[in-house]
Amino acid sequence: MKDIFFCPEESRFYSTCLETLVLNNCKNSETIVEFGSGDGSPIINSLLRNNFNGVIHGFELNPFGWKAANLTIDEYNLGDKYIIYNSSLLESSKPEAKYLVANPPYLPAPDNDIYMPLLFGGIDGATLTNELLSIGYENVLLLVSSFSNPKSTINHAKANGYSVENFLLLPLKFGYYSSEPKVKKHIEELRKNGMAFYSGNYYFLAGVLFKKQQESRVDLSNELTQVMTSF
Ligand SMILES: C[S@@+](CC[C@H](N)C(=O)[O-])C[C@H]1O[C@@H](n2cnc3c(N)ncnc32)[C@H](O)[C@@H]1O
Repeated sequence: MKDIFFCPEESRFYSTCLETLVLNNCKNSETIVEFGSGDGSPIINSLLRNNFNGVIHGFELNPFGWKAANLTIDEYNLGDKYIIYNSSLLESSKPEAKYLVANPPYLPAPDNDIYMPLLFGGIDGATLTNELLSIGYENVLLLVSSFSNPKSTINHAKANGYSVENFLLLPLKFGYYSSEPKVKKHIEELRKNGMAFYSGNYYFLAGVLFKKQQESRVDLSNELTQVMTSF
């Protein structure tokens, strides 16, 4: 397990966001693409609790996570609903889908030499998140951290034609990966430059549903910016 992302509180929140903001709106047999499936548990738990008739294509680079996910998928006979590839979505041909969903790597650090290099989100933590908002999917559900330059993500989304349709918030304690001294020190530096927001041991994780703008839609971008920078 040591080599697979492990943060049950965060994974459970991701599951809740998936159900509330995506699966509950999937009335037809939608196709969903997932970046970074980990051990697959968030989607698997959501599928076990919901009647989802479509297909989810997951991409996970870590072979240990990919194997663990496939064992659980087999155990619950979910092979027709959740298919995971041991590759990066960014370097693969992108399946057509109504939604892209991810709890992406969002750790800011000077480089990827950290406890789990695959959790490196670029120098400000938002690089991969912002890349996912550049692919062009119509609806994108992302977990966004308040210490990973959230303003850049909201601005990047807007520049790419997305509005914030809805979001859920979780105050989360710095955990094993974000408390690594090299990472924590870097986050403290980002805070001085207005790129990281937290209070004591707590930061905000938001599950944000971005939607390509259509006229007269709600846009909660300002509200999200206000909350994420409120520490
Ligand atoms: C924060 S973890 C989330 C895991 C899982 N979705 C969860 O919430 O429990 C991010 C995951 O993205 C994976 N990852 C990082 N870069 C990737 C890439 N380029 N392509 C696919 N997966 C990647 C990591 O290995 C890790 O499992």
